[in-house]
Amino acid sequence: MDPAWTIDAQTLDEAAAVIRRGELVVFPTETVYGLGANAFDARAVAGVFALKGRPRFDPLIVHLADVAQLADLAAVIPADAWRLAEEFWPGPLTLVLPKRSCVPDLVTADLPTVAVRLPDHPVARQLIRAAGVPLAAPSANRFGRVSPTTAQHVRDSFGDQTPLVLDAGPCRVGIESTVVSLLGERPRLLRPGGIPREAIERLAGPIAVAAAPHAPGPQGAAAPGMLSSHYAPQAPLRLAPHAASPAAAVRPPDDRAWGLLCLQAPAAFEGFAAVETLAPDGDLRTAAANLFAALRRLEKQPLAGIYALPVAEEGLGAAIMDRLRRAAADRPADA
Ligand code: TXA
Ligand code: MG
Repeated sequence: MDPAWTIDAQTLDEAAAVIRRGELVVFPTETVYGLGANAFDARAVAGVFALKGRPRFDPLIVHLADVAQLADLAAVIPADAWRLAEEFWPGPLTLVLPKRSCVPDLVTADLPTVAVRLPDHPVARQLIRAAGVPLAAPSANRFGRVSPTTAQHVRDSFGDQTPLVLDAGPCRVGIESTVVSLLGERPRLLRPGGIPREAIERLAGPIAVAAAPHAPGPQGAAAPGMLSSHYAPQAPLRLAPHAASPAAAVRPPDDRAWGLLCLQAPAAFEGFAAVETLAPDGDLRTAAANLFAALRRLEKQPLAGIYALPVAEEGLGAAIMDRLRRAAADRPADA
């Protein structure tokens, strides 16, 4: 982390006191900013759902300061979980495990399981340690909208309702954690994210992938966060049917004002009202880190829509495509 972004001890103590009082703190992680509450305090967690406007059937991830806390939350920790934790924690991997009864049902949306992760951000872990409790935290944005990778994104989302924010600059990974369920015989991928599936498979062998995103509703308990419409920017997003070859010219779908979202600039792109290039160097890590900020910049402009060029679905490309597909999906009336 850039030393300019360290949080002073007094601010950290204050934030820890806010958590212990049952209120909310926005904290940085390596993926996106989280809206945190004491995971053992159902009243505090209710505040997270209320501020975010999140439906109660969508469970939260519990964030730890060290691996030892895992046993406080999970009732069963299979060998695969230990191996994955050892390899990828701290980092953008969330493990779904059978929960202990001390975890409030509100955190887990009445599921018998809990999602946990150890974030790779010193400020996140300092806060959790200082508060003395794990933090239940979703991304710090209004439900169904674009996740925040800077403190300003959080303020843009919540306005004067913004809780205390620990600002540590832009998030390094920029896309949420990979969610893996360890309930079955084999690990199962519930959400692609900051740790590529290939990296997990190198360690744990082939993993099953949860069914495609489904319509919102409590019926989605198997993979609850997999709502088809999510990450929706204000302007409609349309995903181009295939990646343009770098030498090809790309045109807007019609003669209205479209914004272009692409990995690298195509050879020609006349007619677009705005262009966001996610990674001039073509590196998917750079693209992931820039994705949500680019979507937010585009949605602030008076565009008919955002025209996104697909990226290759390997490594972080799978998580980027997952977010683009959901941003392109029809929105539920309440998102
Ligand atoms: O990187 C991240 O994961 C960020 C940072 C703040 O840690 N958090 C995040 O939280 O993205 P959120 O709430 O936006 O997404 C949590 C995902 C949802 O898809 C949710 O359904 C899933 O995790 N999840 C949580 N608990 C679960 C459980 N018990 N079983 C299955 N999925 C669960
Ligand atoms: Mg989210």
